[in-house]
This record gives sequence, structure tokens and C-alpha cells, in this order.
Amino acid sequence: EGEIDFHGWLGDSWGILFSHPSDFTPVCTTELAKVMHLMPEFAKRNVKVIGLSCDSVSSHVEWCADIKSYAGFSDDKVFPYPIIEDKNRIIANKLGMVDKDELDAAGIPLTARAVYVIDPNKKFRLSLLYPATTGRNFDEILRILDSLQLTDKAKVATPANWKMGDDCMVLPTVPEDQVAKIFPQGVNVLTL
Ligand code: BEZ
Repeated sequence: EGEIDFHGWLGDSWGILFSHPSDFTPVCTTELAKVMHLMPEFAKRNVKVIGLSCDSVSSHVEWCADIKSYAGFSDDKVFPYPIIEDKNRIIANKLGMVDKDELDAAGIPLTARAVYVIDPNKKFRLSLLYPATTGRNFDEILRILDSLQLTDKAKVATPANWKMGDDCMVLPTVPEDQVAKIFPQGVNVLTL
């Protein structure tokens, strides 16, 4: 609780900022609970996560008790990631996280379910924007991180539905006469 300096908090980690329409709503609660369960997976990938919801800090604090209960954790467990207060949707509007088709009771557009991935150089690497009515697949977000981290290290690209350990492709930009040098363990050539 208190102010957060985003770059300082991120340090040398990757970051995921994910937004929510509002506190105490059922879909959001399932998502935040899922993120709680996936914390060891995010840690393995050197990723810090931070949520945002357009309610107050005191509302977030009360909501965290619900989320822990839904996730099957005891109430004395420390909630493992911060949730940003965005009561007036200033951040959501600034960062393009608003779903203009979903309105709250007062007719104000809801914050959508955005996922922004930031790398350790503080570079914005990927965005996903789901409508408020569609909960996210956080396993897909881990898969995305695996692809981003792998393709940062090696001159490869990952195909449809790839997951860590599956085959990937040599980048089309790698000259053919460099392939053996860059991939000394060899590559498979498929003829279609
Ligand atoms: C929910 O989290 O359950 C929700 C929030 C806004 C619109 C629809 C569903």
C-alpha cells in the first residue's frame, strides 16, 4: 500500500501489467486467483506481475481476502502482487485499456482486460486486449513469455500453438550459409 515507482519496482525483471473492470466481480476474481497460483511460474521466468482495477486501495484490500479464499489460500497468506488503484480510470484511459462497449451502472466505459508485457529494458513488447466479458487464459500468457524470452536469445521464431520444448523455426532472415554456424547442433529441413 502506497505509491509505486514502476521502473524501480520492475528492476531487472520482465513485467506484466493486467487490468480489470472492477473489484469483486466474478470473472476478475477467477483471474486474480489464477495469477496467485501461477506466481511460481512467473518467478521462474523472472517476471513481476501487477494488476490494475478501477477501485480504491481499501476496496482492493477487502477484495484480496475474497480472491485468497476463492484461490484456496488461507487469509493470513500475504497477497503476492500489487494491484494499482485507478478510481477515475486515468491510467486505464492513458494506456488504452478502456472497453467503450461495456458501461458501468453510471454509463462510464469499463476498463477492459488488457495484458501488457514489458521487458527488463522497460520496452513495451506485447499487448492483448480482451473485452470485459471474456476472462484471460494465463497459461497462454506464460507461453507468450516463453516465446519472447527464447526468441530474444536465439535466432528463431515459434509457430502456432508452440510450447516450450516443441520445435521452432530458424528465422527467415538468417542467411542459409550461416545456419550451420549459428545452429551447430543441426536443424531439420522440411520440404513441403
Ligand atoms: C466480471 O469480472 O465478472 C465482469 C466484469 C465486468 C463485466 C462483465 C464481467
